[in-house]
Amino acid sequence: MITQNELERVGYVKEQVSARLDLFEEIKRLKAEKNAIILAHYYQDGDIQDIADYIGDSLGLAQQAEKTKADIIVFAGVHFMAETAKLLNPNKKVVMPDFRAGCSLADSCPPADFKKFKDAHPDHIVISYINCTAAIKALSDIICTSSNAVQIVESLPKDQKIIFAPDKNLGAYVAKKTGRDLVLWDGACMVHEIFSLQKIAKLKVEHPDALLLAHPECEEPILKIADFVGSTTGILKFAKENSAKTFIVATESGILHQMQKNCPEKTFIPAPPDNNCACNDCPHMKLNTLEKVYLCMKHELPEVNIDPQLQAPALKSLKRMLEISASLGL
Ligand code: 13P
Ligand code: SF4
Repeated sequence: MITQNELERVGYVKEQVSARLDLFEEIKRLKAEKNAIILAHYYQDGDIQDIADYIGDSLGLAQQAEKTKADIIVFAGVHFMAETAKLLNPNKKVVMPDFRAGCSLADSCPPADFKKFKDAHPDHIVISYINCTAAIKALSDIICTSSNAVQIVESLPKDQKIIFAPDKNLGAYVAKKTGRDLVLWDGACMVHEIFSLQKIAKLKVEHPDALLLAHPECEEPILKIADFVGSTTGILKFAKENSAKTFIVATESGILHQMQKNCPEKTFIPAPPDNNCACNDCPHMKLNTLEKVYLCMKHELPEVNIDPQLQAPALKSLKRMLEISASLGL
């Protein structure tokens, strides 16, 4: 959780932007002028995805951050993603449109509590999902994302004891897929835990040919009835390649923008949540706007920095993931 003090420290822009300004043109101009790259997650607003240089899932975004030649990385996503880009590029400037864009999953794993948990399991290796703070990455041996978690676990010897943090839903899914007995941290994502099994079952009756696509951050009963489980990139790829015409999508709604763009002839139905709200928006991701992208590029603020004590250990666990992924062709 970003505190007000931290916000004041990093600085934030309060400038009024003229409604007459063509933000797309201004952002393009700033990109060229400052040699900046815009990396955006699939959960961002359509406008931000359309102006981005690269749109992807957490693994793709980390890989792009690792190889970019740009001087400034504009990270249109949430704080742990921008932190990941900064860990990989300690000498580049990394800015984000809204510094308050955090993550409920990352917040569900406070470093002091996690350190005690880890100390209680001294013979375990720690694999942490990338959706965690730099402090948790520094306490981890290997990082993973939703697109490589199964392979990362399988890359370790069968008798290796493993703590998996912070997402208990992804952890349980990986444990089931690999047949490993993982010790799970009790964390979860607020967006993926609210899908209604009952409403999805009703939708499946109304659309008998529709396939259910689910992100592994969803709870087990949803994953059990899903036709495909995968990361946002995996979900998009499946929808493009599968011959079905209708899909029910159990993940954050931002992904629908790319799905509809890539497959205009197909129908994508957002899976209904267990409340009266009709959308599956991540409130953190959706703090970013095109206007804030423009302002953060213009002022090069707010800037993301890493506690110097965390840089080396957090980068080590992150690099291990990137190396294993590269060796597996992921
Ligand atoms: P992926 O980017 O790995 O699909 O994960 C989605 C997510 O929750 C990002 O916050
Ligand atoms: Fe975090 Fe969930 Fe939002 Fe992803 S969708 S950034 S895991 S709160």
